[in-house]
Amino acid sequence: MCGIIGIVSINLKDAALAKMTLEALKSLEYRGYDSVGMASMDSSHLEIRKSVGNVEQFERIKSPLTMKGNVFLGHTRWATHGEPNDTNAHPHSDCNGEIAVIHNGTILNFLELREDLISKGHNFKSETDTEVIPHLIEHFRKLGMDNFSAFKRAIEHIHGDHAVLAIIKGDNRIFFSKRNNPLIIGLGDEMNLISSDVWSMIQVTNRTIPIGDDEIGYITADSVYAEKLTGEKINLKSRLIVQQFDKTSASLQGYESFMMKEIRESWGAVRDTLTGLLKENELLNKTIKAIERAKRVIIVAAGTSYNAGLLFTIRLQRAGFNAISVIASEHNNLRTNQDDTVLVISQSGETMDSLIALKKYKNNGSFIISLTNTLGNSISSYSDIALHTRAGPEIGVAATKTFTSQVGALMLLSSLLLNESVDYLKEAESVIANSFSKVIGYTKIIGSELSKKPSLYYLGKGLGVPLAMEGALKIKEIAYVHAEAYPAGESKHGPIALVENGFPVIFLNNGEFTDELYNNVMEMESRHAKTYVISAGSKISTNNNQNEIVLDVPDPRLSPLALAPPIQLIAYYAAKERGANPDRPRNLAKTVTVR
Ligand code: F6R
Repeated sequence: MCGIIGIVSINLKDAALAKMTLEALKSLEYRGYDSVGMASMDSSHLEIRKSVGNVEQFERIKSPLTMKGNVFLGHTRWATHGEPNDTNAHPHSDCNGEIAVIHNGTILNFLELREDLISKGHNFKSETDTEVIPHLIEHFRKLGMDNFSAFKRAIEHIHGDHAVLAIIKGDNRIFFSKRNNPLIIGLGDEMNLISSDVWSMIQVTNRTIPIGDDEIGYITADSVYAEKLTGEKINLKSRLIVQQFDKTSASLQGYESFMMKEIRESWGAVRDTLTGLLKENELLNKTIKAIERAKRVIIVAAGTSYNAGLLFTIRLQRAGFNAISVIASEHNNLRTNQDDTVLVISQSGETMDSLIALKKYKNNGSFIISLTNTLGNSISSYSDIALHTRAGPEIGVAATKTFTSQVGALMLLSSLLLNESVDYLKEAESVIANSFSKVIGYTKIIGSELSKKPSLYYLGKGLGVPLAMEGALKIKEIAYVHAEAYPAGESKHGPIALVENGFPVIFLNNGEFTDELYNNVMEMESRHAKTYVISAGSKISTNNNQNEIVLDVPDPRLSPLALAPPIQLIAYYAAKERGANPDRPRNLAKTVTVR
């Protein structure tokens, strides 16, 4: 995965630019946090500092604020080739230390390139695939090529997905190339930036230019240039996007963690999402038509976005649509055609599995709609219709407010498709906010109890099932507590065998099937499970079950939104109790740009 940033400035330099790079790296850290590095350059020198650990450790050990120059690169790594250590950290360099390269992606043919370069006398220091790039550039420069041609030739030699930035001593340009990994230019004031995401640049600029696949070029402090790998020139400025967000929204603003801040922002995010979508009348109408005319509606996503999509699928299936949910990495199991409409859901808009599924289904002639949370991302750029949630930057690795916003957007879409009035959604904001206030104490207790358990079940029925799946995913990824989700009725067909004295089972009752769920609660309790019931709308138990909390919903269709805060808070408090950092769960990166 990895996060990459490059900044080149006319007036800003040395400590000021190093600080800006470091701040960008802090916001990119969600993309990987096992090692960090920076390169700085001015007309006469190029320096690299790097170390294993996160940005804070790097800052402490390597004092990057003493680096000099007006061109900076920064990299935060999620290791693929080579364990996380100082040597494998990026940037990587050539034999003479005149080139610095940072990379997000995987070079499939690096072993053969490396062998070839070694036979030509190049010395390699790391085990990474990336290191072949500076050596290739060095090789082609030695053959007499100018810097851009050497960079381009190096990129032509590598196979695989990448976002690459390179600097070469004595040349004030940052060279870039992209294939299937995100890369965005930010246009600043007498400075330009290039990064893996827009959020890392928002303190400096909201004017961004997305770079497309197989595009290569460079930025200077006051110009941008790109061409296709085939040589065709690109008018980058015609792609300018002015991002609409508040500069301060990507900072902690006094909260101790992004996850808590972002859960608290979820009702505002849903409000902004619904208002924003309703303003795009024409786009919504086109979306509805594309779904109505399709023989099949295929909903594709990964992780949390898949869970949100499943709610939509169930709502459409119930109304008689031929709707199918597909896990993005399993897209090969379904062959689509021109009669299908595909909805790709991804908060980042960059998830590789979802992007690959999209491209394949698009190639089959299917119509593509996307729902993402940023403007100008890869998934939306390949879509026939690009819809957006308006959750703002989500920095915590676990999806929270983006999930709730996806649910809000998908409730809106499904209601329009079902010819229902969407007036009930006016209450969405207050339902989520009230749910948060009501469950905050209860979820702290549950989270703390669950943090001491090795395993648990989340059970639901109907629209409660995707929520149960999301609850189980959240507590696994943030608190490292094993959890499985099942349709409550299915629990009798095997899972119940694990239940013994004190085994925790959380029921999510969205108010539709209270009688059946009541039976399932009783089945679990008679095996001495420790049950918790979170109900939206109607109560499950008739015996004043002390572990049931009932959330108010003026309309049953708002239940999924009401159930989002408790499942997120349970995971949050379980993580806190276990001393885990909820913002940076181990082994995970927020935007998964590898297959
Ligand atoms: C869970 C989580 C992941 C993502 C998944 C898809 O909290 O964050 O499961 O939901 O990697 O990411 P997007 O939505 O960016 O495609």
